[in-house]
Amino acid sequence: MSDAVGSLYGAPVGQRIRTRHLQQLKDRGEKWAMLTSYDQYTARLFDEAGIPVLLVGDSAANNVFGYETTLPVTTDELIPMARAVVRATSRALVVGDLAFGSYEEGPAQAIRTSVRFMKEAQVHAVKLEGARPLLIEAIVSTGIPVMAHIGFTPQSEHQIGGYRVQGRGEDAKHLIEAAHSCQEAGAFAIVLEMVPAAVAAQITSELGIPTIGIGAGPDCDAQVLVWQDMAGLRVGGGPVPRFVKKYADLATTLSDAAKTYAAEVRDGVFPTQDHSF
Ligand code: KIV
Repeated sequence: MSDAVGSLYGAPVGQRIRTRHLQQLKDRGEKWAMLTSYDQYTARLFDEAGIPVLLVGDSAANNVFGYETTLPVTTDELIPMARAVVRATSRALVVGDLAFGSYEEGPAQAIRTSVRFMKEAQVHAVKLEGARPLLIEAIVSTGIPVMAHIGFTPQSEHQIGGYRVQGRGEDAKHLIEAAHSCQEAGAFAIVLEMVPAAVAAQITSELGIPTIGIGAGPDCDAQVLVWQDMAGLRVGGGPVPRFVKKYADLATTLSDAAKTYAAEVRDGVFPTQDHSF
């Protein structure tokens, strides 16, 4: 990822990852990881860890605000988070997620919301759910890179009937067509969520743009996880999906830290002279 002269995934030292670098990775067959981020500390840590793409996802709804679904979160809630993530990073390409209800009315609304993300948060791209070539084309025509997202799309969970794998059996053909329609409309990358591994592999081999899998098997060009899932911070909110791998146990670490702090205050162990003026 990072070579001896400090270039990151092809982006020279001190420069941000661009969509063209992601395209070059696809062309060279090199895989990469994307994470969500909603605040300055995780953004800085992930940026310094060399994660090339950070998504300020509408998953902030469940993972920050405590809503049951992604539907209630608004553009006004996401933009300040996206601004913080951009300000805390110097290398990552930051993608702002268009909230449910902020783009579906048509190209004018989709452009308006995307422009808000670009101006108010200074993100480098936006993402929207569903195969919506007209909206993708409209946003791209204004000069804003668009990441598409198909398969299971959480904003449609009530229509889909819960968290269900998409593109099985006969539906595979429709999903593959949908992926092509997003590419033809100008998307620079596409998220495939909860899609059979074989279907995701076929889409990845047919498309020229990078595919980013979440529950879509090992053959996608990239992978994405919600950071709290990846780092084991999820508490409550139902079972962790099967596609998640936990790389840390932050829930236990934080809980232990809080208990130790409380006990030390109770017992008069903290603060000491060292913490006093
Ligand atoms: O909002 C989000 O976190 C997402 C990813 C799961 C792709 O859309």
